[in-house]
Amino acid sequence: MTNALRIGIAGLGTVGTGVLDILAVHGDLIAARAGRPVRLTAVSARSQSKPRGSHNLSNLEWHNDPVELAKSAGIDVFVELIGGHTGAAKGAVEAAIGAGKHVITANKALLAHHGVALARAAEAKGLALNFEAAVAGGIPVIKALREGLVGNAPKRVFGIMNGTCNYILTKMGEDGRGFADVLKEAQELGYAEDDPTFDVGGFDTAHKLAVLTSLAFGTEVNLGAIKIEGIEKVALADIRNAAELGYKIKLLGVAVNYESGIEQRVHPTLIKRGSPVSETDDVFNAIVVKGDFVGDLVLEGRGAGRHPTASAVLSDIVDIARGNIRPTFGIPAASLKKYKDSSPRAHEGGFYVALDLHDKPGAVAAIATILAAAKISIESIVQRGKTDASAPRATAQFILITHDTLESSLQAAMTKIERDGHVAGPPRVIRIERF
Ligand code: HSE
Repeated sequence: MTNALRIGIAGLGTVGTGVLDILAVHGDLIAARAGRPVRLTAVSARSQSKPRGSHNLSNLEWHNDPVELAKSAGIDVFVELIGGHTGAAKGAVEAAIGAGKHVITANKALLAHHGVALARAAEAKGLALNFEAAVAGGIPVIKALREGLVGNAPKRVFGIMNGTCNYILTKMGEDGRGFADVLKEAQELGYAEDDPTFDVGGFDTAHKLAVLTSLAFGTEVNLGAIKIEGIEKVALADIRNAAELGYKIKLLGVAVNYESGIEQRVHPTLIKRGSPVSETDDVFNAIVVKGDFVGDLVLEGRGAGRHPTASAVLSDIVDIARGNIRPTFGIPAASLKKYKDSSPRAHEGGFYVALDLHDKPGAVAAIATILAAAKISIESIVQRGKTDASAPRATAQFILITHDTLESSLQAAMTKIERDGHVAGPPRVIRIERF
């Protein structure tokens, strides 16, 4: 066997300790697969004294400053598990590349903001910048797009990319529990980001989608082009209504490569029950790739958590140990196309609209008139009885499913509906996605 590959890990939180666990259990197997031993030689973390299970780290090189670890002569590969797109993580990755170290990162925010610049710097030196753990936890979607699907020019990539949101929406639906209660549980299970607004606000999904878009379509990463909506406004009533209409609600990231340019969006979505994506529940993620030659591909698995994410880090380590160094985004970063936004188009799949309608004559006619004027065609309508028959201002739930329509037309109609005095609160609008 050739020389050991020496690994330095910055950040010994949930994922970092997961990597220690796997190396401890599968050290020999990994060496056999990599063709050389893989050895953890150095670490950097906030606390040196914090117990880390059964792992004895006393013989390792210890750095308080991750930048110092990144530059250490004692490592070949710098594994960045710090998180965040500024500060220590960025500085340390830049320092590692500057010092000629291969880099592995689980940091989707860093890649979404600075991925192309970092990839250019790494590729200029013949170094790897690998990030399997940054997208969809343990699912090898990066390897699939970068290697397995090289014979395809995908037209559409979409799916559930945030385990925390999927966990919350699943439990709200199954148990009728409130949003905050389930979020707390997801945090305790180690799924959520340090700041869970990144999860529930859709930003974590957007970071992942931005990177997948680049990899799938060969364009520069453009996080700013993504329309982002989180799950904070999804009501239990919407989840129930969706179920009765034969749908589930999921937070999806969607990227489509049209002739006119690219569309990227993150938002809660109704999906028909019975599809691989709608049946992906709990912390699981599912990514669909529509390849032009392979057809539809669905990759499903655990999208967050200690060992699934650490499993992805190990895949990157073994690639480097074997000398399998590929361009970060599939083609050299210097050759990525300029990003081009698609022109506005009707949303394929239509919209779910929930209105709390004042129960008085003419209300439905008024809504129908506004929608007709906006050329919005209705596919189906459901009306539920008064929320409280004895209340003087009782409302009825009025649920519409539209045909494909422009989002701008729908939003303009919703503004009119909200202003015309027939609804008790803002309309709740959720896109529907066809599989
Ligand atoms: N907070 C992320 C999630 C972790 O819930 O999916 C994995 O990126």
